[in-house]
Amino acid sequence: MKVTVVGAGGNVGSTVSMAVAQRDFAKEVVMVDIVQERNGEKIYPSKGRALDQWESSPIHQFDTKLTGTVDYEDTANSDVCVITAGVPRRPGMSRDDLLETNANIVQGVVEKLVEKSPNTILIIVSNPLDVMAQVALETSGFDSKRVMGMAGILDTARYRSFLAEELNVSPKDIQALLLGGHGDTMVPLPRFTTIAGMPVTQFIDEDKLESIVERTKKGGGELVNLMGTSAWYAPGAAAAQMVEAIMLDQNRTFPCAAHLNGEYGQKDLFLGVPVKLGHGGIKEIIEVDLNDEEQQLLDTSAEHVHSVLKEFRKLMNK
Ligand code: APR
Repeated sequence: MKVTVVGAGGNVGSTVSMAVAQRDFAKEVVMVDIVQERNGEKIYPSKGRALDQWESSPIHQFDTKLTGTVDYEDTANSDVCVITAGVPRRPGMSRDDLLETNANIVQGVVEKLVEKSPNTILIIVSNPLDVMAQVALETSGFDSKRVMGMAGILDTARYRSFLAEELNVSPKDIQALLLGGHGDTMVPLPRFTTIAGMPVTQFIDEDKLESIVERTKKGGGELVNLMGTSAWYAPGAAAAQMVEAIMLDQNRTFPCAAHLNGEYGQKDLFLGVPVKLGHGGIKEIIEVDLNDEEQQLLDTSAEHVHSVLKEFRKLMNK
């Protein structure tokens, strides 16, 4: 029951670590980051944040031990590794603008992680998400069941929270499904959105629902504009939920970025689809019947991920 989070000196990574610890199912969370420099002095953000979080354990009442490190030796034999290492978006940037920098970081991190934990499961959070998951798959050489990206839980959470606010209902009662890449081409599916099992379309008019769908697609950008950097609370909570589902073998069904090999008409591509998560990682990729319009939106989203992947391959051949 050991979890490693790389990039944990930063916003998303430290939030994943804290959320995992607060759920109190893991024995330990190892928080990895690099040594940074501030005002000419070396600082160790992963060690600092781990210590700060561990000091909250008596208040939050958890036993999960949090430790910070810059040494991959400490990550040996992790059951699950979450990768949030990389640079975040700034206002005016798309996730794709992070491609070259983050691809190099993710590649290096995966190499070091798998050397110490050859049987681990990799959850990628760094952006551009779908392509970073592909980088992790190819670098690790793992079976695709053990490599996935966190996006769909976050995107559906945003969608559900906006709907809850609009309809004045509890976010707990809203269920939703969302497919596609983690970007503005994601495909929310109002047809599969319910409030306590009742179709959402009975409670909201078409235009309002459409505007919520549009807000969801640009939900990451809305926060970048407000904060000057990308979000961390909801992304961190979403990744922790995946870690829990895998480690406790919960068989939970979530939308996650999974490597498709024929499913939904896509080959050798990561895309957000519903999966069953439990021991071993992705136990099943679930194929829902899409109507023509939905399939077309998904194809467009897939084309976009393909184009970023092509850009990545071009960069690697430079
Ligand atoms: N090894 C380990 N950690 C690294 C490395 C590396 N090679 N390179 C960078 N990092 C660390 C940074 O030192 C920093 O602490 O990754 C951390 C990133 O944290 P933030 O800058 O706070 O960025 P954050 O908001 O957490 O976003 C991280 O997640 O959601 C995505 O788009 C987001 O790609 C971004 C990533």
